[in-house]
Amino acid sequence: MYLKALVFFLLTWIATAAYHPPKKQAKSAKGFGSSVVFPVSGNVYPKGYYYVTISIGQPPKPYFLDIDTGSDLTWLQCDAPCKKCTPSPHSLYKPNKNLITCLDPLCASLHGPGDHNCPAPQEQCDYQIDYADHGSSLGVLVKDSFPLKFTNGSTVAPQLAFGCGYNQEVLDTAHLPYTDGVLGLGSGKSSILTQLSSMGLTRNVVGHCLSGQGGGFLFFGDDFLPNSGIVWKPILSQLKYYSLGPADLQFGGRATNIKGLPIVFDSGSTFTYFTSQAYEALVSLIKGDLNRKLKDAVEDKSLPVCWKGTKPFKSIRDAVSYFKPLVLSFTNAKNVQFHLQPESYLIVTEHGNVCLGILNGGEVGLGNFNVIGDISLQDKLVIYDNERQRVGWAPANCNRLPNMDRDYGEGFRLPYAADDGLLKEICPANFGFWSNR
Ligand SMILES: *[C@@H]1O[C@H](CO)[C@@H](O)[C@H](O)[C@H]1NC(C)=O
Repeated sequence: MYLKALVFFLLTWIATAAYHPPKKQAKSAKGFGSSVVFPVSGNVYPKGYYYVTISIGQPPKPYFLDIDTGSDLTWLQCDAPCKKCTPSPHSLYKPNKNLITCLDPLCASLHGPGDHNCPAPQEQCDYQIDYADHGSSLGVLVKDSFPLKFTNGSTVAPQLAFGCGYNQEVLDTAHLPYTDGVLGLGSGKSSILTQLSSMGLTRNVVGHCLSGQGGGFLFFGDDFLPNSGIVWKPILSQLKYYSLGPADLQFGGRATNIKGLPIVFDSGSTFTYFTSQAYEALVSLIKGDLNRKLKDAVEDKSLPVCWKGTKPFKSIRDAVSYFKPLVLSFTNAKNVQFHLQPESYLIVTEHGNVCLGILNGGEVGLGNFNVIGDISLQDKLVIYDNERQRVGWAPANCNRLPNMDRDYGEGFRLPYAADDGLLKEICPANFGFWSNR
């Protein structure tokens, strides 16, 4: 399981970050067509991560990048040369005299306030990021071309800054993500989305639709915002996260004493994490409600809390009837609720047991944060709108790529009609799909 929220920021930014009102863009990407769509692969279980294929360099080469809305910096495992890299699906990225210097504003934005050292202007820009799962990446910032096919049919290859990571530490060597790096989609300056938006190429909006059956899609830009049906919650702007403020938990349609949970959305986390107190209370609610209808499966080490039925569960569908839906109801916001069906907080393991996919964040050092991870973001369209400082969601069929032909001009509705097999056939380097218009 992975938890790619940035620990560094968790510990330091909360105290020091001041409110920065959203800046007016120099140029603003206008109108229809300034979006990019990427098919997504991966799943919550057994893989534990979702990823996209992104082409980088000249000539462009494909890389698998873990989708992470919990951090800003995109980085690739890098032959600089590599001191410590994990097995990756593609050969390591090779920098080619394209280092960013420490004078670059992007370099300063990566380091905490007062923590930016730039003794000589020609010096390289080092970075280190530490994730909440105790993984880390150390490297230097480089700049290279990212050919992107926009929804208007044009391919543009902007030069974007990202990390060339030559020293990756991982805690759990048994469950390494088989990726080439991380796609950081936070709202910080160093995020490639922010870079694209300050170049006027796309709006600072990112959305994902992660399918419970695996796969899905990711998009940059605001062409895929439906006109209605989305529940929006303002982002708390003083934090460096997609942090949505406190919510109360309902269990099976009833209020509980689990209240005021500060919520953060993080696609880089496989599972959902509650604070220790909320976690303990939830486990006892679920256990009380199960009332021994399922037996504890302590022998299943897949996750901390598992149960078994009279015979092994084949899929999540067999198990959900034993469990009640949860609702996170945001306080100080009218009718802003995030629904968690049992499918959004349970997995069925290879041993045929059902396990709780909400974990104790206190045990991994998340402190007072409640992190909503992939398991609970599945089968929803989730939109992080940094233009209007809000996050929105709606139930969706994520098995189909959005089809632009459907309702051009009147906003998009999900699910989109498109060929079922399309998602797997299309590779991002060649969106034959879009040119059919
Ligand atoms: C398509 O969108 C991109 C990104 O905003 C832009 O750079 C390009 O000029 C647009 N192409 C056309 C033909 O409008």
